[in-house]
Amino acid sequence: MGYLIHFSIFDFSHTSTSMTAAEIRAQFLEFFRQREHLIVPSAPVVPQDDPTLLFTNAGMNQFKPSFLGLQKPAAPRIADTQKCIRVSGKHNDLEEVGVSPYHHTFFEMLGNWSFGDYFKKDSIRWGWELFTQVYRLPKDKLYASVYETDDEAETLWKSETDIIPSHVLRFGKKDNWWSMGDTGPCGPCTEIHIDRGPEYDTDPKAFVNTGSPRYIELWNHVFIQFDQQADGKLVQLPAKHVDTGAGLERLATVLGGFRSNYDTDLFQPIIRAIADLTGKTYAQDENGIPHRVIADHLRCLTFAIGDGAMPGNEGRGYVLRRILRRASRFGRKLEMHEPFIYKLVPVLVDTMAEIFPEVKERHAHITRVIEAEESHFGKTLDRGLEQFESVTSSVRKRGETIIPGEEAFKLYDTFGFPLDLTQLMARENGLTVDETGFTSAMESQRQRARAASMFEKVADVEFLNFLLEGSDVIKSEFVGYDTLKIRTRLTFAGFDSSRLVIAFTPTENPFYMESGGQVSDAGTIMVLDGDEHFGFRVVRVERRDDITYLYAQPNEQFDLSDFLSRFKRSSQMDGMLEVSPAHRIPTQYNHTVTHLLHKALRETFGDHVHQAGSYVGPDYLRFDYTHFEKPKPEELARIEERVNEFIRENLPVTPKIMPIKEAQALGAMALFGEKYGDEVRMIEIAEGDHVISRELCGGCHVKRTGDIGVFVIKAETSAAAGVRRIEALTGEAARAFLSSQRAKVDDFIELLGSAGSDPVEKLKLMLDEKRKLQKELDYLRGQTAASSMQDLAQKATVAGGVSVVSARVSADNMDQLKEMGDALRDRLKTGIGILGTVFDEKPSLVVVVTPDLVKAGWDATPLVKEIAKLLQGGGGGRPHMATAGGKRTEMLDEAIAQAASIVEKFATQVAAK
Ligand code: ALA
Repeated sequence: MGYLIHFSIFDFSHTSTSMTAAEIRAQFLEFFRQREHLIVPSAPVVPQDDPTLLFTNAGMNQFKPSFLGLQKPAAPRIADTQKCIRVSGKHNDLEEVGVSPYHHTFFEMLGNWSFGDYFKKDSIRWGWELFTQVYRLPKDKLYASVYETDDEAETLWKSETDIIPSHVLRFGKKDNWWSMGDTGPCGPCTEIHIDRGPEYDTDPKAFVNTGSPRYIELWNHVFIQFDQQADGKLVQLPAKHVDTGAGLERLATVLGGFRSNYDTDLFQPIIRAIADLTGKTYAQDENGIPHRVIADHLRCLTFAIGDGAMPGNEGRGYVLRRILRRASRFGRKLEMHEPFIYKLVPVLVDTMAEIFPEVKERHAHITRVIEAEESHFGKTLDRGLEQFESVTSSVRKRGETIIPGEEAFKLYDTFGFPLDLTQLMARENGLTVDETGFTSAMESQRQRARAASMFEKVADVEFLNFLLEGSDVIKSEFVGYDTLKIRTRLTFAGFDSSRLVIAFTPTENPFYMESGGQVSDAGTIMVLDGDEHFGFRVVRVERRDDITYLYAQPNEQFDLSDFLSRFKRSSQMDGMLEVSPAHRIPTQYNHTVTHLLHKALRETFGDHVHQAGSYVGPDYLRFDYTHFEKPKPEELARIEERVNEFIRENLPVTPKIMPIKEAQALGAMALFGEKYGDEVRMIEIAEGDHVISRELCGGCHVKRTGDIGVFVIKAETSAAAGVRRIEALTGEAARAFLSSQRAKVDDFIELLGSAGSDPVEKLKLMLDEKRKLQKELDYLRGQTAASSMQDLAQKATVAGGVSVVSARVSADNMDQLKEMGDALRDRLKTGIGILGTVFDEKPSLVVVVTPDLVKAGWDATPLVKEIAKLLQGGGGGRPHMATAGGKRTEMLDEAIAQAASIVEKFATQVAAK
């Protein structure tokens, strides 16, 4: 806990202590604008097209292709403030968050860049000028570190600035060599550190690069000269560049005279909101850790989700899920048992909207995603915490300090606790987690899952185990991008007699194997033996270790014994292979159209839209994409219209093979989580500069977009939380669909008899009319019932001193029967009415009593119950009306006949009241 400082704030009276973060940011950008830098917006924190990177972790990421010489930068000098996340890979500060006053998952990096323009001298000179003249940092408190062999940088510090010469220090690779990741642009760097004074660390050994909170790094200037290769080699770049980065949060702390980044105006509004929401006041010591972690994680989640990332189970999504779960768990420390982090989004958005308008635009989406995730984890969090308690107490009882891997895995698997969350809680309890045990528990579960799925496969086609492999068969070359039909050599590689399936391996193979959503091809194989032909249908395409197997079933008239007498397993033969155009061509339409749809979706909704899955077959296409809201009908219509515009533009669709770096530099979209080799295939839909789409893709496509004909959206649904699904049709399937829709409309028009007029208007009129007629009908029914009840009322007999009417009527349901009862009671003036009917094949009764008799003590309920006994039924109600149902339909007339004598029996009871 060396970070926590409890005494006075270091006196920076010579600095302008009132600077806000916004002012610091503005002054930085203005300083470089005056020095001919182009000011650009921050790139999204979710790298759009760099599969090597989960999150943008430095300002230079977006300029990687320019450093590598693959792309011309927008200007030779650029500056900006970049949203960065450091939670994975080479740069990862997660563990420090909340404990350290100046490490974050999300932060802003102010930076300036030279692309083959100025180099070390200006970079150092301007760095010093900005810090000491604009920000007015005390010169005698600043230190510069340089790379151990960088004499040039040290000399420049001494000649170009008035830094105290002994404050220029040399460090090795660990501290003064910067690289983006395991590969990519890199070079030696020089860093500016500040000594905040002994109040921050009393240790006399505290110094630059010792990890002491007294000396903190403020600005890193990297002199990019190399491209780090995966094998460790450094390749000299064509030009020399400058890449600098200064954390805004730290500058705000130092320039504001604060001791912690959390005390600055970047965090205080959030921390205050957390305190308000939870009723737990913020403290700068350990008790404030939950507030700090939540504030930090909120920023990370908001910006990542705002830029299109979604919590999930893999890769980037899992990082976000981990962050959110950590924050939720710290929420429990503040006794928050319901989702609440999402409620903080507006406060953050308010402080950031001006510089990052995207968070304001997408705040509704961000809020909803966070709330959904919180409530999801909230369901298992409390039980998981109990489980954790019981595990730690038994570990302690055993006198141990390590939580077994199995237990950590159970917390992960059953309660959704990411390993790092369990580790963090363990640390808080002075324990550790057996990570190896966790990994092996995870691995054995994976193996169980794999074994289960292998079993299914083998059970599906048993003969797989008997397939020829290795040198016994021909390795195939895929020729299917351009060729659907080819004569080639085949090896007879396997045979399943029970299913009559033969496996062939072709030399040249036109059959596409399911991949990237596109289904496997269907088609035929014709084995040629002299004048004899043996025809097969290809039912499955499979690749195992570079060998393609075509599983084929013989055509009906096939004489298998003849075939087997000519060919043995491992024999080679000539064959004519043909992919069915009826299968493949529409599949190609559907594949190309997914790229167009992807483009139209991003245009309509924004860059957070990413492909989340797809099905591309001959019959239709399905496209899943990340987006939280159900599209409005007019948005869907717009998307459909856009895709059709792309189709009508009849643009060439060109596959290009190129190094992945080049594809990235061209902005090609890659599927996240997909592994790409060094050489990739990029599908470009473009005419000259008019580029509609570039995607890395191995699938089969049309030659020009016009081939697709037409595109129709058939259905729009939700695929999962935050993922929407579109099902659509192209070509002939789309035409057939439209035509069947039209046939339905025609039928509808004909039925309506609305030829010539607007059928929808006509239907509306008809529905109105129907409502009117229904009303009239109800009224007339009432009238009829009333008049027949009038007739009945006149036929009243007298029993037990009161008028009694009992009759069988016809009614369709209880409501109608009750209406009749009401009408009868109205007509009776004084008396008791008993009506019986049969509907739904069961007898029903209603008994009504006029108000004067109710006053006199009569009650319909016991009466109806008594009569219903004859029907083996029961009922209930109120004194003036009660109903009953029964079973014995054949007894209904008898019951009605006895009603008067039952009334008579009750008369004595009533009189006694
Ligand atoms: N790219 C450099 C860093 O991240 C400036 O420190």
